[in-house]
Amino acid sequence: MPGERMRIGVLCSGRGSNLQAILDASRDPAYPAEVAVVISDNPRAYALDRARARAVPAEVIIPASFPDRIQHDLAVAQRLKEYGVGLVALAGYMRIVSPQFIRRFPGRVMNIHPALLPSFPGLHAQKQAVLYGVKVSGVTVHFVDEGVDTGPIILQVPVAVAEEDTEESLSARILEHEHRAYPEAIRLFAEGRIRAEGRRVWIRRS
Ligand code: GAR
Repeated sequence: MPGERMRIGVLCSGRGSNLQAILDASRDPAYPAEVAVVISDNPRAYALDRARARAVPAEVIIPASFPDRIQHDLAVAQRLKEYGVGLVALAGYMRIVSPQFIRRFPGRVMNIHPALLPSFPGLHAQKQAVLYGVKVSGVTVHFVDEGVDTGPIILQVPVAVAEEDTEESLSARILEHEHRAYPEAIRLFAEGRIRAEGRRVWIRRS
């Protein structure tokens, strides 16, 4: 039987399809991580329903209830600590987390981004890729550092951009790859196979 699984906290702002992929992966008892809590900044996030449907605690921490961004982040960090998480996964969390948050989980905050970083950071990465006219975009899973989408890269998956692609069609194709890449990166982390040194990340595959 597998041993104790790593507890992860997932932060979401909306639809939560990446959360769903992680929840689905963790249904396998051999998967080395489990979602301990989902926290959203948005009370209407569908991600909250997805968590509750799996009996995973789902909490809302509203930024407007705090005097500033840092106080909100610290409240989220405190809650994650109370749930004993060993990894924080940002999954469509539409906020930039502060250095104060990241320092509470050094080397333990991951994000997924719908482009091949360092191309097209920030919002609407798929639209940026279509407008720029690149022939290849994709998915990046990376550790979060104090910049915006600048942290050490764990996994990337290229996705071809077709001439007729729109933001919507490209987003849908990239999303399918996101749903495989994120659970895979989390698995590698929970199995202790990821080592980061500066910008570079090594993955032990065997
Ligand atoms: C995903 O495509 C994710 O990569 C993107 O938001 C979407 C969330 O979808 N994240 C970013 O753009 C972060 N800059 P989901 O809520 O269905 O997982």
